[in-house]
Amino acid sequence: MTDSKWWKESVAYQIYPRSFYDSNGDGIGDLPGILQKLDYLKTLGVDLLWLNPIYASPDADNGYDISDYLAIQPQFGTMADVERMIEEAHRRGMRIIMDLVINHTSDQHPWFVESRKSKDKPYRDFYIWRDGKDGREPNNWQAHFNKSAWTFDEQTNQYYLHTFSPYQPDLNWENPKLRAALYEMIEAWLKKDIDGFRLDAISFISKAPGFPDHPGADDYIFDRKNMIHGPEYHTYLRELYQTVLSKYDIVTVGECLDLTVESTIEMAAPERNELNMPFLFEHISETIKCGKNPQRLKEILTRWQLGLHQKAWSGPAFNNHDSPRVVSTFGNETQYREASAKLFGTLLLTLEGTPFIYQGEEIGMTNVVFSTIADYRDIDTLNTHHALVEEKGVDSVTALATIHATSRDNARTPMQWDDSPHVGFSTVEPWIKVNPNYTTINVQQSIADSNSIFAYYQKLIQLRKTHLSLVYGEYELFLENHPEIYCFARTWDDDRLLVILNCTPRQPVLALPAAIELADSELLISNYPVDLADNLHLRVLRPYEARVYRLHEPVEL
Ligand code: GLC
Ligand code: CA
Repeated sequence: MTDSKWWKESVAYQIYPRSFYDSNGDGIGDLPGILQKLDYLKTLGVDLLWLNPIYASPDADNGYDISDYLAIQPQFGTMADVERMIEEAHRRGMRIIMDLVINHTSDQHPWFVESRKSKDKPYRDFYIWRDGKDGREPNNWQAHFNKSAWTFDEQTNQYYLHTFSPYQPDLNWENPKLRAALYEMIEAWLKKDIDGFRLDAISFISKAPGFPDHPGADDYIFDRKNMIHGPEYHTYLRELYQTVLSKYDIVTVGECLDLTVESTIEMAAPERNELNMPFLFEHISETIKCGKNPQRLKEILTRWQLGLHQKAWSGPAFNNHDSPRVVSTFGNETQYREASAKLFGTLLLTLEGTPFIYQGEEIGMTNVVFSTIADYRDIDTLNTHHALVEEKGVDSVTALATIHATSRDNARTPMQWDDSPHVGFSTVEPWIKVNPNYTTINVQQSIADSNSIFAYYQKLIQLRKTHLSLVYGEYELFLENHPEIYCFARTWDDDRLLVILNCTPRQPVLALPAAIELADSELLISNYPVDLADNLHLRVLRPYEARVYRLHEPVEL
């Protein structure tokens, strides 16, 4: 039984507002800029937009440190701009989801400003304060962008907890007053007619009671057992759903850590009444770690595809604002950039789950290689570099090479609209340097070329819209042990599509199982020209070749 939902049939597009389009020439992308590009997005065919945070923020972590949830960062625009953008998106048949950062706020948020003043302030318990232990932090937990997850505050002689930087104190979800204040804020946003939320770092909202030390560690440690998915995690999510979310026809997507198929079902199965889906990105981190290993990629994706089918939904992605660009990591950013970008597009758009395309992915934007650390902006990148050079004594060339490969700024360079000096993003020097490859990789040129990655994404999106088998269909893997080729079918009623992907720059031989009859099949899309005669006798696949066929007859295996 399939429960159809608009958000399952959507194709999502992530906008990193700061780097998308600058409408007023201050070097920073903004809301009127997004408004001006809605027609571009409509042409691409996406219909669900996720915006990274646009709220008031001192920007220690590019907006993930919010100082006022109900105010807009002046650099981005005004609340009137937001309302206009929502209205105009809706008029074009697109929906908008906002980033919801409710594990922490900025240390400049009035709640925290009050909280830190004294131990008996009414807002004290909106955050997590503890006494030190033996002249040190309360425990050995490590923060994401720092060493200790605790920072000492002289005003009251206590430490506060922060999963990320010290500028991002964690909210105390154990306090019902805090939860009520958050729900009220969420409701205010929903009343503005937005279509849902991406829930930032949501795994962290419930911590282990008593904040126990991670045993046996001689340094600070990211304590997966105690810092995430604490005992109240599901209770909080259900309360959030019941109190606010369930009253609106919206979609919720969780940024969740350490997911398994089982824990996803526990959270995203419809009867759980928690979240609609988590992002799926095990394959991103794993493929980066494991190198270019197609076998591993299909193992991971197959486990998710089979495990979640008709049990829970998910949101697969290959790129986002926290990861290097997939063309550069798993694909091939030089000779086979176009082919490999199209290959990953094919995979993303043919999997079960709401696909999330990240800005620039549709033109095959790549990682960037800045020659000096001074050109990087991301707090995580700068901290990592500092730790490498200052603490581990790594030489600067090696440290920079690590940054080139891993920096979140790889995905944050300005959207390449054209080949003018500021890439058509701005009329002035942008807040972060542009990727010098803009002269060959840009939207203007992609739109003019009917063979471009952009044109290919357009076609893929339309394919997904016309074949519900790609949304709801059953997934079946073939050639499981082939080291290079990833081949699977998606079947829904009598619509059966076969996806063939050569995930390497090599030219492997494809020998399909005899049961798959390609005769009379229809080639729906491919990233290389295909001779019609070739349809029947597929043999050698070209580097990063991708094809999708509609099979004529359902096969019996
Ligand atoms: C999420 C965001 C990331 C941010 C962090 C802290 O992981 O995607 O960009 O730095 O949360 O809010
Ligand atoms: Ca601007």
